Order: sequence, then structure tokens, then C-alpha cells
Amino acid sequence: MFDDKKEDYIKKAVSDFETVLREQINRSERMKDGENNPSHKADKDITIGLIGGDGIGPVIMKEAERLLRELLAEELEAGKVSLKNIEGLTIENRTALGKSVPEDVLSEIKSCDVLLKGPTTTPKGGTMESANVTLRRELDLYANVRPVSVPEEGIDWTFFRENTEGEYVLGSRGIEIPDVLTMDFKVTTEPGTRRIAKAAFDFARANGKTNVSIVTKANIIKKTDGSFSKICHEIAAEYPEIEAEDWYIDIMTANLVNKDIRNKFQVFVLPNLYGDIITDEAAEIQGGVGTAGSANLGSRYAMFEAIHGTAPRMVEEGLANYANPSSIFKAAEMMIRHLGFTEKADRLAEALYICSEKEKKVVVTGTAEGAKCSEFADYVISRL
Ligand code: IPM
Ligand code: MG
Repeated sequence: MFDDKKEDYIKKAVSDFETVLREQINRSERMKDGENNPSHKADKDITIGLIGGDGIGPVIMKEAERLLRELLAEELEAGKVSLKNIEGLTIENRTALGKSVPEDVLSEIKSCDVLLKGPTTTPKGGTMESANVTLRRELDLYANVRPVSVPEEGIDWTFFRENTEGEYVLGSRGIEIPDVLTMDFKVTTEPGTRRIAKAAFDFARANGKTNVSIVTKANIIKKTDGSFSKICHEIAAEYPEIEAEDWYIDIMTANLVNKDIRNKFQVFVLPNLYGDIITDEAAEIQGGVGTAGSANLGSRYAMFEAIHGTAPRMVEEGLANYANPSSIFKAAEMMIRHLGFTEKADRLAEALYICSEKEKKVVVTGTAEGAKCSEFADYVISRL
């Protein structure tokens, strides 16, 4: 590269970096201010937003809506709960408008209290941010909670994945010097780490858990992971009855496939990307990524979703109607529980257990040999 061209790129990169640095400092300061404010409580009447998404999303969400209408029939009838279908969060619309979450869709979303969302396509490369990442940020859904259980093995894990910063917050804002190098940024803020650590330890305390694993790669990623681990330990000191253990992500990934020790882990707290990766691994141990639900929690909003993606291959092969709705049903259960309908959530959990583990009279395999998504939904509804 010519030297003058190189200098131009460096100047631009340094100036872009200053912009992101200032933005991130402001974000951190806003978060700190927010800490002192009482969180806005949802109104008495609850609006649940339903977002179909892309690929197999609309197929599984149609069945999830049917399930919710069954389960919440009285509340819907009494007007205590209402369901709102939110259109427009599709890859076609988003691409046409050049917006990861178009403004009118976002304001519809913000008029709800909680959301149940099908998977959305995340464009690879380019600069368009993933809709998930945008929503997690815009709704400040800082805790990504993913439970995984394998009762016969005594596995009962709950992952607290930091959901608004880490490797994700500037994932579309990296630096590129064409044909020379590319560089991305990872951000760990003090208030951002405190609140996820607090969420994990509060959960541990409330649920009688005795151990929290703090998972990083602080031996290598010294600044961001180093401060993540340090802050988690500061929070841990406020929970003396709970043991806080440091683990590196590589060995923890191995631990989860080690049958001799894996059931001793209980609660995990970890930065965004490690949380993303290890929760897919954990879900696979439970029976597949199609089986795990995911809660994105903030102090005002909460969004529940399937842990899996849009399954473009299934759609291409004409198999969308054979998609497994278990993960979105699990997410629906988590949402109903979050809203305080504990008895209904227990009923759904029991029905899912009967249908997926105990009786298995209708089995979805993701192929035309298996049952259809709607048939499995009928089965679950019949066992409620
Ligand atoms: C998840 C997904 C998302 C993520 C994608 C779809 C952006 O993998 O929820 O785990 O990376 O967080
Ligand atoms: Mg993921």
C-alpha cells in the first residue's frame, strides 16, 4: 500500500476509534446513573408481543401462539393479558430499509412488556447488525439466562451470559485496512459486569445454589476478561455462602463433556461470546439446540426466544413445517414463569416433559419422516 494511503486509513481508524471510545464511556456512565433509578414496573395488564422472525420462525411461532392462547385463555378473556403480533422484523423488510430493526417495528416492540421472538436471520459480514443484538441493546436486556437440565444425570445448569457488551457491542464497528488487517473490539464496563454478576449471584441465592463458576480467558484477554473476573469476585464477596470459582473457557468447554464432573457445576456467569458458544454446547448435551429456551432480561423489558437459528437449510429443502417447536415452547414456559403465572408454567413444563421425555408419542425429527411442528403442538396442548 502507498504510504500516503496508509496514513489516511490510520487517521480514519483513529478517529473512528475515538468515536466508539466516547460512545462506550457514555454508555457506561448512563448505566451507572440507571443503577440508582428504580426500575420501571410493567403495568398491571400485560402485553405480550409475538415476533415471527425468519426461516422456520413463523412456523414455530404460529404454534407457540396457539399454545399461549390455550394456556392463558382466562387471562386473555379477562383482558389481563393481550397478545400483539408484531410484523416487519423480517430479513426482507430489514434489508429493504437498511435497518436491523426498523423504527416503527421497534416502537411497536417497546409498547409491549415482554416478547416471544422467533429466530431472525443474521447477515454475515457487511455492516448490518444482528436484530438480536440491536434488540438486546435497545431494550437493555443485559442478562441472557439459559437453563439446561438433564435430570437423569443430575445436571441442572443455569448460564448467565452478559448480553449487551463484550465482543458483541462493537461487532459491526471494527476497523479494516483493506488487504492488510482487520480489528474488532471487546468492551467490558464496570456497571455492565456488576449487573450481570449480581443477577447470577441473586439467582444462586434465591435458588439455594452453592456454587457459581466465573468463566473467562483472563490469562490471555487480560483487560476485558481480567476486569470481568475481578468485578464478579467483588460481587461474590457479598454472597459469602456461595462459592465463586474461576475457570477458563477452554477447560470449561471440556468439563461440560466430562461426565465424571459436569453435574457439580450449577450457575455460570460469563462474557457475551463465551456464553453464546458454551450455551449451544450445553443445549446439545440436553438433547439438541432445538430443546433449550433463552430469556433476555432487563429491568424494564424481557424477551424470550429459541436458542437456535432460522434453519435456512430446512426451509430450502421444503421441511419448514417439520421444524421442532420445543425450544420456543421452552422459551414460552420461561416467559409465563417470568410473568408470575407459576402454576401455568409448571403445567407447560410437565406437558413438555411428558411429550419429549416420558411418552414420546409424537416425535419431531426435522425430516419428513418425523411429525410436523403442528402435530407436536397438538400433542403438547392435549397434555396441558
Ligand atoms: C444466540 C444466537 C445469536 C447470538 C445470534 C442469532 C445473533 O446465536 O442467541 O445465541 O449470537 O447471540
Ligand atoms: Mg448462539
